[in-house]
Amino acid sequence: MLFQLSEEHLMIRKAARDFAQQECLPGVIERDEKAQFPKEQIKKLGELGFMGMMVDPAYGGSGMDTISYVLAMEEISKVEASVSVCMSVNNSLVCWGLEKYGTEAQKQKYLVPLAKGEVIGAFLLSEPEAGSDATSQRTVAEDKGDHYLVSGTKNWITNGASASIYLVMAQTHASKGSHGINALIIERDTPGVTVGAKENKMGIRASDTCSILFTDVRVPKENRIGDDGFGFSFAMKTLAGGRIGIASQALGIASGAYERALAYAKERKAFGTEIMNHQAIAFKLADMATRIEASRLLIFKAAWEKDQGLDYTASSSMAKVYASETAMWVTTEAVQVHGGYGYVKEYHVERMMRDAKITQIYEGTSEVQRIVISRSILK
Ligand code: CAA
Ligand code: FAD
Repeated sequence: MLFQLSEEHLMIRKAARDFAQQECLPGVIERDEKAQFPKEQIKKLGELGFMGMMVDPAYGGSGMDTISYVLAMEEISKVEASVSVCMSVNNSLVCWGLEKYGTEAQKQKYLVPLAKGEVIGAFLLSEPEAGSDATSQRTVAEDKGDHYLVSGTKNWITNGASASIYLVMAQTHASKGSHGINALIIERDTPGVTVGAKENKMGIRASDTCSILFTDVRVPKENRIGDDGFGFSFAMKTLAGGRIGIASQALGIASGAYERALAYAKERKAFGTEIMNHQAIAFKLADMATRIEASRLLIFKAAWEKDQGLDYTASSSMAKVYASETAMWVTTEAVQVHGGYGYVKEYHVERMMRDAKITQIYEGTSEVQRIVISRSILK
C-alpha cells in the first residue's frame, strides 16, 4: 500500500490550487454576497479540462482517474464551493452517467460538449415531494411510441439556469414503482421547459439552484438512457460516484477553514502569547487535522475502489457522511478560533461554515448515507 501521490497527481493538484487562488479567491466574497453565478470561472475550468476530468479523451475529456478528480475538487472547494458544486455535478453526475450508460449517438451529441466544458449539465432527480424518498417520482414520462411526453416539477436543481443539458428522472410505469422510472436527456431549449426563480440560499450562494417545470415536453425515445425502467438504478449508480465528489467538496471546505484557523492561531495574540500556545486552541487544531486526514483517507479509498472497478457504494456513502460532518464541525470551530473576526465576511470562515451545511444535505442527506451504509453491512 502506497500513501504517495504520483507526479501527475501532484501536477493536477497544483494546477487546481493555482486556479483557485488566481481565479476564484479575488471575487469569492462578492459573488457569495450577490449570489452571482461564477460564469467566467466555470468557463476557465472547462478550458483547463476540469469539467470532464474522468471522461475518455475520445469523447472530449481529460482521461484522468478519480483520485485526480478528488484532488482537484478539494483544492477548488478550499476557496469556492459554489464553483466546485457546478464542477462536481457536471463531472460525476452528468458526464459519468452519459459515458457509462449512454449510446454512442448520445455521447457524440451530448457528452463531447459537456466534457469539453462548452456547455453545462444538470441532474434532475429531486421533486417538491420526493427528495430522500426518491422512488416517489411524480414527474411523468408518458410513452407515446416514438417519444415521451414529460410533465412535472423538479426542485433544487444545481446549474438549473446555466445548464443546457438536463438528465431527468421521470415515472413511465407507475405500477412498477422504482422499476418504472426512466432517465431522459432533455435539452433546456425544448418547448415546454420552464426554468424557475433562483433560490436565495444560506450557502453556496453563487451556485444557481432552481426548480424546473416540464409541461408536455416532447422527448425523442433515442434520448432515453439505458433500457425502459432503468432510470432509478441509473440515478443510484450515478449518485454513488457523485457522493465521492461531494465528500471531496466537504474535505476542501474543511481543509480551507483549517488552514485559515491555523494561520490565524499563529499570529493572533491574547494574554501575551499567540493563541496557538493556549492548549484549548492547539487541541482544536489537532482535532481538525485528525478529522480532515480521516476524511481524506476514506475519500481516497472510495475513489481507488471506483478506479479498480470494485463496488464503492458503501464506501462513497461513508466518505460523504464522515467528510460532510467533519466540514460542519471544522468550519464552526474555525469561526471560534477567529473569535469576533470569524463572524465577519472578510475572514472567509463564516462563508465556509454556511457552505459546509449543504454537504450534509444534497446528494443524499447524512441520514440517507446511514441508510445506504447500514443496508450494506446488514445484508
Ligand atoms: N445501484 C443499483 N440499484 C440500486 C441501488 C444502487 N446503488 N440502490 C438501490 N437500487 C435499487 C434497489 O435494488 C431496488 O431494486 P429492487 O426492488 O429490484 O431490489 C430499487 O433500486 C429501489 O431501491 P430501495 O428499495 O433501496 O429504495 P428506497 O426507496 O428504500 O430508497 C435510498 C433508497 C437510498 C433512500 C434512495 O432513495 C436515495 O438514495 N435517496 C436519496 C436521493 C438522493 O441522493 N438525491 C440526490 C439528488 S442529486 C443532488 O442532490 C445533486 C446535488 O445536490 C449537487
Ligand atoms: P426530505 O427528504 O424531506 O428530508 C427531510 C429530513 O428527513 C432530512 O433530515 C432527512 O434526512 C430526513 N429523512 C427522510 N427520510 C428519512 C428516513 N427514511 N430515515 C431517516 N431520516 C429521513 N437534487 C437534484 O436532484 N439535483 C440537484 O442538482 C440538486 N441540487 C441541490 C442543491 C441544493 C442547494 C439543495 C438544497 C438541494 C439540492 N438537491 C438536488 C436536492 C437534495 O438532494 C435534497 O434536498 C435531498 O436529497 C433531501 O431531500 P428533501 O429536501 O426533500 O428532504
